[in-house]
Amino acid sequence: MPSQQVFNSGAESQHYTTSNGAAVSEPYASQRVGLLGPLLLQDFHLIDSLAHFDRERIPERVVHAKGAGAHGYFQVTEDLTDLTDNPLLASKGKKVKATVRFSTVGGESGSADTARDPRGFAIKLRTEEGNWDWVFNNTPVFFIRDAAKFPHFIHTQKRDPQTHLKDPTMFWDYLGQNPESIHQIMILFSDRGTPDGFHQMHGYSGHTFKWFKKDGSFVYTQLHLRVQGGFKTLNNEEAGKLAGSNPDYGTENLFNTIEAGKFPTWDVYVQTMTPAQAEQFRYNILDLTKVWPHAEFPLRPVGKLVLDENPQNYFAEIEQAAFSPSHLVPYIEASADPVLQSRLFSYPDTHRHRLGTNYQQLPVNAPIVPVANFQRDGPQTFVSQGARPNYQSSIAPLQYKGAPGTIEGGANDYERQAKHETFVGAAFRDLSFITELDFEQPRAMWTKVWNDQQREAYVQNVAGHFGGVKSDEVKARQLSVWAAVDQSLSDRIAKAVGHPTVKPLQVRSASEAIKFRANVGAHLAQ
Ligand code: HEM
Repeated sequence: MPSQQVFNSGAESQHYTTSNGAAVSEPYASQRVGLLGPLLLQDFHLIDSLAHFDRERIPERVVHAKGAGAHGYFQVTEDLTDLTDNPLLASKGKKVKATVRFSTVGGESGSADTARDPRGFAIKLRTEEGNWDWVFNNTPVFFIRDAAKFPHFIHTQKRDPQTHLKDPTMFWDYLGQNPESIHQIMILFSDRGTPDGFHQMHGYSGHTFKWFKKDGSFVYTQLHLRVQGGFKTLNNEEAGKLAGSNPDYGTENLFNTIEAGKFPTWDVYVQTMTPAQAEQFRYNILDLTKVWPHAEFPLRPVGKLVLDENPQNYFAEIEQAAFSPSHLVPYIEASADPVLQSRLFSYPDTHRHRLGTNYQQLPVNAPIVPVANFQRDGPQTFVSQGARPNYQSSIAPLQYKGAPGTIEGGANDYERQAKHETFVGAAFRDLSFITELDFEQPRAMWTKVWNDQQREAYVQNVAGHFGGVKSDEVKARQLSVWAAVDQSLSDRIAKAVGHPTVKPLQVRSASEAIKFRANVGAHLAQ
């Protein structure tokens, strides 16, 4: 199948050559002194082939190492001009090419696709204003709301420094000390933690972003991708069996589904909130551990994402893909969510390490629009930008008309930012401590959203993993977190792992957190 995407795969020729393009008569043979003698240094074909083989591996992703991907398109199906002047979103009917990579988070690149883990759902949209990446997960919330915790948390899911084994004690030790993780833990240990393959699940931005208009006004947004056909899950037993019998279950299913002409499709929706609504919202919109209730902030249709093409070459088109939440386009901006702010740095940083300084020049990452800037040279430079000066010269300056903040592009940076900074002042403080607010959404899940069967599945799924914790102190601390959600939840898990029941963790009241935010808001408004 010829690729509809933009790659020059070099797959046309059928003639065997060395890397400098010279024909070779025999791929399997090396040059020797006589029939049984030693090899010759002049045999460039052999040396080139061995030397290249020795360098075949690049570092795997430090998280999300195991994954699968495909290509397709994103189409805007609605009129969104009241929300943003981003040229793609403001053009109903417009279609752009997309590359998507799904992944598990904690395991190495050979690990099982059915592991209990959030799934990554990373999308690169090739727009005429540059590449716009949606680096999402299949859960609407996350374990942390302070990025300083990320390396600690991830290390507890990786291997012990001495035994080189994974260890549930580390995992639950971290979670009990950081109870804001409980909302994600409710989702993760339900059957949503073991999706049926990669392409039968929803995707969520999780973070809050800002969509701007030319006059500098904006709305806060959260994106949702809802898979047509519904979110399909495996139960604990099925996922465990598949991990042994077919660790590449999700990768295989995705490939075969697309080859069979059944193209996975997601309806894309946006939730929006004005700055004024954000001030009144019960939760902090920069807190990644909370969802925006759909009843208050309904899902508004945006468009659809369709995957209709398998990669021709996994390494070039999926492994080398570099997704980053900082790959944004005009009129779309990051919010001040501290986890998002840290991610803006972390992804391009790891890409420079994993793929090299010029990772944006690799075919899968290269924008479809010309790149004109002052980045020059470095290892593996393919786009040299010709004879253009490598500084902003007065004789032939690069133009930047039409970008937001310029006269033609609308409000300037000051006008844009001045509109909602007071909220940020309050947000950072009340994100830092645990309050009763942190337990409301997990409690609703346990008491209202789930039925008896789902509650029992949760208890059993947790017990299988939590039962492996070797420290009583770690067990008791985490049981106190569950008790703060609901005493019956904690007691059932305690019983399942043979531990005495534990009282709820004591936390600050919800009213204290809300009063604190109101006070800071009022102070800043003076
Ligand atoms: C992958 C860091 C939180 C979604 C990665 C990678 C790093 C990273 C270093 C490897 C990227 C690569 O090698 O190309 C972080 C940090 C976080 C964080 C520091 C928090 C402080 C999140 C959150 C989400 C997310 C909250 C989703 C809402 C993803 C996805 C990938 C990924 C989907 C895989 C991208 C791909 O398929 O190439 N993360 N991450 N991460 N992360 Fe995060």
